[in-house]
This record gives sequence, C-alpha cells and structure tokens, in this order.
Amino acid sequence: MGEAGAGDTFGQAALTYDCFEALEQRMELAEKLLDLSQACNWMHYDFSKWQTLLVNCSGVFVAQQMDGSLAGCCLRTSCRLTDSEGSGFSGLGMMLVHPSFRGCGVAKHLLTAFRKRAEDLNHTCMLACATDVGHPVYVKHGYKAVPPNAICAKMSASCPVAATLATAEGVSAATYKEQEAVAVKLRYLISLDKEATGFDRTEVLTTFSRSDSAMLSLAWQGGNVIGACLTTIDSQTGALNVGPLLGTEVAANALIADVAHQFPERSVVIWCSHVGYMEILQQTGFTAVASMAAGLMVLADMSEMVGDRSKYLGLMQPALG
Ligand SMILES: CC(C)(COP(=O)(O)OP(=O)(O)OC[C@H]1O[C@@H](n2cnc3c(N)ncnc32)[C@H](O)[C@@H]1OP(=O)(O)O)[C@@H](O)C(=O)NCCC(=O)NCCS
Repeated sequence: MGEAGAGDTFGQAALTYDCFEALEQRMELAEKLLDLSQACNWMHYDFSKWQTLLVNCSGVFVAQQMDGSLAGCCLRTSCRLTDSEGSGFSGLGMMLVHPSFRGCGVAKHLLTAFRKRAEDLNHTCMLACATDVGHPVYVKHGYKAVPPNAICAKMSASCPVAATLATAEGVSAATYKEQEAVAVKLRYLISLDKEATGFDRTEVLTTFSRSDSAMLSLAWQGGNVIGACLTTIDSQTGALNVGPLLGTEVAANALIADVAHQFPERSVVIWCSHVGYMEILQQTGFTAVASMAAGLMVLADMSEMVGDRSKYLGLMQPALG
C-alpha cells in the first residue's frame, strides 16, 4: 500500500485512492481491473493480458469505490537510465476511468499520485501513446510530445503480406521459439534496447520474454546483430504482436518477414513509433488499424528523448503497458 487514501466524494460515491507496488498485491487486482476495462469498453484486454501487464509493471494506482470495485486506474513502469544510478523514467499506462465517474477529476487525482511517486524516485514521467480522449488530459497536465511530431500507429497486415517486406542482401534473420534459446539470445535484444531507449530494461524484458508464446528474433549483417524483436501471440485475436522492435529499417524488415514466414495463417501487429518506418509498412500493404492522438509524451522540457530513437521502430508493446 502506498499513496494516501484520500477518500474524495463524488456525488453519492466515496472513492479511496491507493497505490499497490508489491507483486502479490498487484496480481490480486487483475479481476477488478478486467471489470474496469470492460466497463470502459476496452474489450482488447482479457484476464491473461492484465496478468502480463501486472507482472511487468512497478505499481498500480487505483480509485476504489466503497464496494471495492474500481472507478479508475493507471499503471507505472520503472525505467532505469543506463548511464545513471539515481534517476530514470516512470512510464504511465492503462489510464482508465469508469464512464460513470468521468469528468469528476479521477484521472487528475491518479495523474497527481503517479507524478508524486515518480518525483520521489527522481524519475521523469512519460507515456508511450495517448488516445484521442486521453491526449487533452495529459496536455492539460503539462505532458509534451517528444519530438513534437511523435507518432504511435497500430499497423497490421496478414503474414503473407508482411513476409514480402523487402530484405536487403547480406541481412539475415532467425526466430527462436524455445524458452531456452530465447533465454540464451535475450542479451542481444537487451543490449540493442539499451542503445535505442537509453534505459536498462533487463528485468522487465527478461520477465516478458518468459511469457507464454514469447519468441525472440534476431537480424544479422556481416556477423553483427543489427536488430531484435520480441513477438507474442495475442490471446484474443491470435495475431502476432511484435514489440519492442529494435534496429534499423533494414533489420526490422528482415525480422518481421522471418516471423511472418513461420505463421502464414496469422496476421502481424506493430505499434509503430517511427514516421519513416510507418511509410515503409504502408507501402508494403500494412494498414493503420488504430492511430493514437500522440506518441511519446513526457512531463519535462526536453527536445530529444534519451537513447537513439531512430533505432526504436516499435516503441509500444501493449503487454508492457
Ligand atoms: C481519458 C480519461 C482517463 C479521463 O478521465 P477523467 O477522470 O474523466 O478526467 P478528469 O475529470 O480527471 O479530467 C482531467 C483534466 O483534463 C481536462 N480535460 C478532460 N477532457 C478534456 C478535453 N477534451 N479537453 C480539454 N481538457 C480536458 C479536465 O478538465 C481536467 O482538468 P483539471 O485537471 O484542470 O481539472 C477517461 O475519459 C477515460 O477513461 N477514457 C477512456 C480510456 C482512455 O482513452 N484512456 C486514456 C488512455 S491514453
């Protein structure tokens, strides 16, 4: 139990605000969070996806009603900087307020609690993408897109289409499905992730790589690993969710084509955060099935994000919040 139980009253309903950080407490919330996401009509999250989110995050902020059901929530995921011991970023995700409680300041309260916790940790607040309704709320609270034209688009194609992504000569890719092989090769992905994001996400990526159906793909050129991605099979749609997707465009094409070749009956989904790569995907036949109002946003004055964003083609991984 963390943040203050403020006990605000909206109409007849008293809401209590709490933050849960211990793994066991986070996991106990899965059922209630599923109920909340369904009440918000977010049907693309089932119980197993919430469990994955809760395992991988660092804390859950909730607004609880008297009967214990949830009026709102958001998740916080810690990202330690690779070049600093003390500071880092706190990622905000899954901001949801029950329709009956909207416009009453629930999101405002959750955002304030999230920011206070991040400040205690000497972290900068960030979020990977914002929906049309979420965007004005974040802007009002001081979040800014970095860079100002940051995007986040959910791109999808059938595997036979995705397999036609142009692969350059001398670039090869392989996909590892066995847990043991994934564990052995994971260090390449973690190293590229550090370079691209500026974060040390060893813990969260290791946990995520152990989730059911997780596969790891690597791309090589001249004996060097130039790209990597993780892929999971969506528990509801059966689509291949690719992310994080790291490397140059050439590497990404080889990675996606390799995964797609192996599952001709499925489709591929990528949350693309790179304008140039989104164009490549579109030219190949991918379509934008959802476009967010904004991509990466931070609660700070920075013109450039840490890391090498040119190598971060798929910033979002829904399973990581
Ligand atoms: C987005 C959402 C979380 C907002 O929750 P909420 O509790 O209704 O928001 P609040 O009442 O706390 O409003 C927060 C602030 O944003 C402002 N705001 C809200 N909508 C706004 C809009 N369309 N334009 C400008 N300001 C707006 C409010 O005035 C308030 O300002 P204040 O902090 O100065 O008082 C809620 O609508 C929701 O759950 N939507 C569906 C899920 C979703 O898309 N979540 C966002 C994921 S990125």
